[in-house]
Amino acid sequence: MEIRTSGIVLAAGRGERMQSLVPKQYMPLCGKPMIYYALRAFEESSVDEVILVVAAGEEEYCLKEIVSRYSMTKVTAIVPGGKERADSVLSGIRAARGTYVLIHDGARAFVTPALIDRMAAAASQYDAAVAAVPEKNTIRTVDPEGFSVSTPDRCTLREMQTPQAFRREVLLRAYEKLAKDGTDLSLMTDDAMIAERGAGARIRLIDGEYTNLKVTTPEDLLFGEAILRKRGENKTSS
Ligand code: CTP
Ligand code: MG
Repeated sequence: MEIRTSGIVLAAGRGERMQSLVPKQYMPLCGKPMIYYALRAFEESSVDEVILVVAAGEEEYCLKEIVSRYSMTKVTAIVPGGKERADSVLSGIRAARGTYVLIHDGARAFVTPALIDRMAAAASQYDAAVAAVPEKNTIRTVDPEGFSVSTPDRCTLREMQTPQAFRREVLLRAYEKLAKDGTDLSLMTDDAMIAERGAGARIRLIDGEYTNLKVTTPEDLLFGEAILRKRGENKTSS
């Protein structure tokens, strides 16, 4: 079978801001580990394969307790990530076989198959595309002393989400170019920045979803459970 699109689901972070004993990707949400939800959305989407990136040493646990247990048939590889998110992405891209890759934060647990499908379609049309939503807040830039510098017109602001979709070779080339130049990749807060700076890619924004939030701090779990309950997830099922 031809592999056109690979989903790369990142779950190799430490979840420090969640301040929990269990890494956040394995915390239970409505009775299932958080990473289950993003994987299931990819399972139900049109992507051809899924690469799961986990912390080194957690590969077997994830294979048994998540991929096999919940029959995630699209997962073709579970690979170790690295210290920074960028290291984990690179590990995922190298394992992927698709012409296009959709990079997704496993912590964005409530992504829908419909959004994944929109991003897969955008990848082949634009070569570089990100899910984004209109900013709801007024944003100001500040100087180091904490005084306001400017207030960009809110109508022009969009909040970046994942999935972010790229022609695989474009993103790989961008990563390799920036690494060769000695660029500090931890300053690049998403893959769109990397594709732009490292390969001159033009980034197309695609309508994301406000429910596609990134579970980062403990209160996000409350929003997350509410989203899942509204979708009919049974609180006690396992
Ligand atoms: N991630 C990863 N490898 C890393 C760092 C992050 O795969 N070295 C993944 C996380 O697992 C998460 C996504 O990238 O799904 C977004 O990162 P973030 O929300 O910052 O998660 P963590 O880095 O785990 O959390 P924190 O920054 O609070 O430690
Ligand atoms: Mg992080």
